[in-house]
Amino acid sequence: MSGVHILAIESSCDETSASVISNGRILSNVIYTQKIHEQYGGVVPEHASRLHIRHILPVVQEAMSQSGIALEELNAIAYTQAPGLIGALIVGSTFAKGLAWSLNIPTLAIHHMKAHVLANLIEKPDIPFPFLCLTVSGGHTQIVQVDSPYELKVIGETIDDAAGEAFDKSAKMLGLPYPGGPLIDHHASNGNPKRFVFAKPQIEGLNFSFSGVKTSILYFLQAELKKDDQFITNNLNDLCASIQYTIVQILITKLKRAVKETGIQTIALAGGVSANKGLRSSLTQEAQKQHWQLHIPSFEYCTDNAAMIAMAAHYAYLNEEFAGDEQSANARGSF
Ligand code: KG4
Ligand code: ZN
Repeated sequence: MSGVHILAIESSCDETSASVISNGRILSNVIYTQKIHEQYGGVVPEHASRLHIRHILPVVQEAMSQSGIALEELNAIAYTQAPGLIGALIVGSTFAKGLAWSLNIPTLAIHHMKAHVLANLIEKPDIPFPFLCLTVSGGHTQIVQVDSPYELKVIGETIDDAAGEAFDKSAKMLGLPYPGGPLIDHHASNGNPKRFVFAKPQIEGLNFSFSGVKTSILYFLQAELKKDDQFITNNLNDLCASIQYTIVQILITKLKRAVKETGIQTIALAGGVSANKGLRSSLTQEAQKQHWQLHIPSFEYCTDNAAMIAMAAHYAYLNEEFAGDEQSANARGSF
């Protein structure tokens, strides 16, 4: 098949993923999610690295096979360079570099957070620029202004916990297993979001903070449990609905402010928390009210996946942004 074919590899956290993109169209997106971390209540870096080593070859083989593209037809191999768990990133980047060397083709070193944003172009290649992207995951919370696939600017971000972390840590206080975000979402649908009121942060500008909410929930639960040791069990749905409402309100308040400050009314979403039903419905309502054009990608492209790395790699290839042999993984990396 003629054109530009790129294999992309994502291994920044607990998903081993590979994707093939051909002339800007995703042909495969294979994701292996590591389940082992559930029993520890969070991602254990050592386990993550070892499982990436075990799964990377079958995942890449499956992605190649589903794409119908032969290894010899590839024009480049992309890998997630930063940010993420360093041991996990090293597995993907080293695999990519070794395979690229054996095929005598270049590599592309991709920024994970930029890729989350550009995932919006997979299903909507004609999304109008500029747009604002709210990226909400377990590790990050950002508002990104996207002027083109090459011009991305973080205009607001969390100064402490990420939104997903706020969900997961709140769920842990309620005795729910990790990752608790989807469980809060589940129980919230049968609860009253206005029943309990938790502190909202007073942070200047477009930055977010979630640590105050967490402390407010903790003190509230401690006080109530002293009076009634069944308080959580008896009020689980209302607690989940109220926690979810608080987190969603914090996100939407800042997004509205970003729209006001930039004048940009096209809004996109990225990251695993975009699965949250409360966030989706509040955003949809707000978009109707404010006449925003809203785009929410399919869940497969919101959580960690290699298709988003492939999409970012497609643009990097067109711009000839090839990585040098000396480039490798970075745990941190801003853009
Ligand atoms: O983007 P992601 O898959 O991984 C990274 O963190 O990069 O996001 C995972 C986060 C977790 O914190 C998880 O609890 C949260 O997304 N999450 C949700 C929901 N689904 C996933 N949080 C709230 N409601 C959900 N339905
Ligand atoms: Zn991510």
